[in-house]
Amino acid sequence: MSVLELHIVPDPLLRQKAKKVGSLNGSLQRLIDDMIETMHEAHGVGLAANQVGVLQRVIVIQLPEDEEPRVFINPEIVRKEGDREVEEGCLSIPGYRGLVRRSLKVRAKGLDRNGKTVRVNAEELLAQALEHEIDHLNGGLYIDHLVDRDQLWKETLEEPEEPDEMEEEEPERAPVTSGYTG
Ligand code: NI
Repeated sequence: MSVLELHIVPDPLLRQKAKKVGSLNGSLQRLIDDMIETMHEAHGVGLAANQVGVLQRVIVIQLPEDEEPRVFINPEIVRKEGDREVEEGCLSIPGYRGLVRRSLKVRAKGLDRNGKTVRVNAEELLAQALEHEIDHLNGGLYIDHLVDRDQLWKETLEEPEEPDEMEEEEPERAPVTSGYTG
């Protein structure tokens, strides 16, 4: 397994529609393993193939409570219910988070890595993950779903309890915060 390079905005691959997977061959299995490793390395909850430069309809998701990563090939949202506002970030838009409008519940289906059909009724973080990652496969990004244009902010490190001594150097990477990043 290897960690793949994350594609970052404004990489045009992120705005392209990924193609349906036809065959679950060895190279697809390797892609899935590499995507899982890349997601773990980046501390993401989910990852779509577009983000590693592959236009195939594959996503991986691992919620904090999941023991194993979930793999969805050719995933589709078949039903959405309700809506809500949630905070979100994307590994392809590092350093930013936003407030987006998402569904309360989604029903999705796809294939697992063995080609078996998987159906899932999701809410909360899993529903958000499915919407965020399937959106990637269609060339979408969370910034398309902001509640309002100004509801996008730069992540900053919480300053420790020393207000008098400001560190001169800004950290390169913001910490992983709670909420979704994928
Ligand atoms: Ni993302």
